[in-house]
Amino acid sequence: MGLHDRTVVITGAARGIGRACAVRAAEEGADVVLIDICGDLPAVPYPLASAEQLENTARLCRKNGASVLVETADVSSRSAVRSAVTAAVDRFGRIDVLINNAGIGAPSGRPAHEFTEEEWRVLLDVNLSGPWRMIAAVAPVMIAQRSGSIVNVASTAGLVGYRHFAGYVASKHGLVGLTRAAALDYAPMNVRVNALCPGPVRDDPAVDGQMAAVVAESLGISTEEQEAVDLASVAMSSLVDPADLAGAAIWLAGDDSRKVTGTVVAVDAGFSAH
Ligand SMILES: NC(=O)c1ccc[n+]([C@@H]2O[C@H](COP(=O)([O-])OP(=O)(O)OC[C@H]3O[C@@H](n4cnc5c(N)ncnc54)[C@H](O)[C@@H]3O)[C@@H](O)[C@H]2O)c1
Repeated sequence: MGLHDRTVVITGAARGIGRACAVRAAEEGADVVLIDICGDLPAVPYPLASAEQLENTARLCRKNGASVLVETADVSSRSAVRSAVTAAVDRFGRIDVLINNAGIGAPSGRPAHEFTEEEWRVLLDVNLSGPWRMIAAVAPVMIAQRSGSIVNVASTAGLVGYRHFAGYVASKHGLVGLTRAAALDYAPMNVRVNALCPGPVRDDPAVDGQMAAVVAESLGISTEEQEAVDLASVAMSSLVDPADLAGAAIWLAGDDSRKVTGTVVAVDAGFSAH
């Protein structure tokens, strides 16, 4: 129960890695604020999560004894982010942990010069400016408490390039940079900021995972072919599970990592060791 009595805010909590983090935080004794867009964005060529999926995450967290606040908000909107964070503080009185997980993997699948302005903008707006907006709303609360932990879910695409993923790669490299700069800004106030870099994650039905399928679709190959490419790219003999990310996120969130800030933790089955 490493997060007993802590309030953990998670964006993109309706499914995938966000759901895995939320349920694990609840298991660790935290109260959780679950934020998701619960709707689609016109420039994103696959469905984002639904209100029903967000409610499923909430149900799983409540089953573990957590008090849960569910907020529908698009991290591209400053006003929506602010009102979700205000609701969290009104309900729980504090925010101990922010897991900046909401992100999009496409539009992708073409060389950099073929992205439209709108496609480029949406990738940066959700994946990089979204976490910044959340930090802008949450940091004053953590600074006043003189404690807090922010976990930015970046990607191995924040460490190396991937062919035909320029917008995504640029956004995740930016998020790693934001992590390092914000860690320096808030270290004197005992607020830590770290990045988590997932490698290729298996689409786990338990969390409605679908990112491998989205990546495969944008590259015009089957999910099985994508998984084979992913498996060949990692040093270990299996892909990463959402639960592996949740474990690392909870470690970064809690006191066991109390002197860890400004770091990048790759959970990538050895991908980046090459
Ligand atoms: N799955 C992977 O292989 C992988 C690898 C590296 C990094 N990541 C990163 O992990 C994070 C989670 O990915 P996932 O695989 O669970 O994907 P996912 O699509 O299953 O989950 C992302 C969640 O974020 C939400 N979301 C998207 N845009 C939003 C917005 N503007 N405002 C609020 N919520 C929004 C979606 O509705 C969804 O619930 C992302 O940041 C992704 O880039 C994933």
